[in-house]
Amino acid sequence: MQTHTLGVGVIGMGWMGQAHSRAYRNIADRFYDSGIRPQLVICADEAPARAQQAQEALGFAQSTSNWREVIEHPDVQVVNVASPNYLHLEMVRAATTAGKHVFCEKPVGRSPAETAEIERLAREAGVMSFVGFNYRWAPMVQYAKQLIDEGRLGRITHYRGRFFAMYGSNPLGHLTWRFKQEYAGSGVLGDIMSHVVDMAHMLIGDIERVVSSRHTFITERPLPSGQGTHFGLGRPDDPTGPVENEDYVSALVQFANGVQGSFESCRAIFGPKCEMSFEVNGTQGALKWNFERLNELELYLPTEDAASDGYTKLIGGPGYPFHGRFNPGDGIGVGYEDLKCIEAYHFLKSIVDGQQIEPSFASARRLANVQTAMMRSWESGSRESVD
Ligand SMILES: NC(=O)c1ccc[n+]([C@@H]2O[C@H](COP(=O)([O-])OP(=O)(O)OC[C@H]3O[C@@H](n4cnc5c(N)ncnc54)[C@H](O)[C@@H]3O)[C@@H](O)[C@H]2O)c1
Repeated sequence: MQTHTLGVGVIGMGWMGQAHSRAYRNIADRFYDSGIRPQLVICADEAPARAQQAQEALGFAQSTSNWREVIEHPDVQVVNVASPNYLHLEMVRAATTAGKHVFCEKPVGRSPAETAEIERLAREAGVMSFVGFNYRWAPMVQYAKQLIDEGRLGRITHYRGRFFAMYGSNPLGHLTWRFKQEYAGSGVLGDIMSHVVDMAHMLIGDIERVVSSRHTFITERPLPSGQGTHFGLGRPDDPTGPVENEDYVSALVQFANGVQGSFESCRAIFGPKCEMSFEVNGTQGALKWNFERLNELELYLPTEDAASDGYTKLIGGPGYPFHGRFNPGDGIGVGYEDLKCIEAYHFLKSIVDGQQIEPSFASARRLANVQTAMMRSWESGSRESVD
C-alpha cells in the first residue's frame, strides 16, 4: 500500500479545532486502506493555555499563540481554520498565499462578499479547499442521496429543510462572537441556515428564487468575562450588550428543477436540541432524516398492501455508506465526530488525488448567492432571484 503523509496545522483550538484534530488523527485508523497518514504538526490558539492543552491532549508536535506560525511552518501542507468567522478571510489569504491547502469552517465568510473573496483566493492559488458541512457525511444522508439520484422516489416535488438548535435559547447565554456582526457577520443565516442550504444543494440542486424573513428573539445578553465559549452562561445581574444579528430565518424556496420547498432555522427555540433535518417527497416515495436520530432514515415507498403502506424506519449499519468504517454491527450508531472524520478524510483524499471534491469553497460561494437573495428579500419583502 502506498502511504501519503500530510502535515496538518490547526488554527483555533475551541470546539471545532479540537474536533477536527481528532478527525485527522482518526483517519489512519478508520480509513487505513487509503494510506493517508496525517501528521499533527502544530496548533494555534490566541489563548496560550488552550493551545498548550490541545498540543498535549491531541498529540501535536508543537503549539503556538501566533497563528501565522502554523501557516509558515515548513512541514504544514494543510491548514485547518477553526477560528471565529471574522478571522477566516485573513487566515485563508495567508494560507493560500503560502500555497497551502485550506479547510475552513462554515460559514467561510462573514458575508457573501467575503465568501466570494475567499473562494477567489483559493481558486487563483490553485490549492484544494474544503468546508465543514459535516451533516452531508452522515451514512443515512449519503444513502438518502443515493435513493434520490437513482430515482427511487420518482420525480422530486417537495423539500423541507430545517435547523433548530437551543444553543441560544437561554437569555443568560453569553454574548459571544456569534452574536456580534463584526465577529460573526450574519446570525443563523451563516451559522446554521448554511447547513440547511448546503444539504438542499447536495440533495436537490440549484435554488432559483426565495422569499425570506428574519427575527431576533433575545436582543440583549450578558457580557462574557474573559475568553467566553459557545456554551458559557452569565448571571442575571451581569452587564449586558446588544445582540447584533438574527436568531431566526425562514424562506420559501423554488429550485431550478421545479421542486418547491421551505427552509427554517433558529438558535433560540425551546424543544429541538439540534434538529438539523430534511423531508423529501417525490412522485413515487418520500424520506425524512433528523440529526437528533442520525442513525435512522424514514423511507416511504408505496406498497399494494394498504395495511403495511407507510413510512419504514431504517436503522444504520455497515450496509450504509462509511458506517462500517466505525462500527461493524447493525444498529450500532455513528456520532457527530465520526462525520467530522469522514469529512477530513474526503478533504485529504482530494489533496492526494489532486482532484477537488465538494463541499469546496465553490460550494460555499453557491450558498452565498442564496444568502444574498435571502438578505435582499428581508429588505424588499418580496420574492428574490438567486444569481
Ligand atoms: N460545522 C459545524 O458543525 C460547526 C460547529 C460549530 C462551529 N463551527 C464553526 O467553527 C468555527 C469555530 O467555532 P467554535 O464553535 O469552535 O468556536 P470556539 O469559540 O469554541 O473556538 C474558537 C477558538 O478560536 C480561538 N481564537 C480566537 N482568535 C484567535 C486568533 N487570533 N488566533 C488563534 N486562535 C484564535 C479562540 O480562543 C477559541 O479557542 C466558526 O466559524 C463556527 O461557525 C462549525
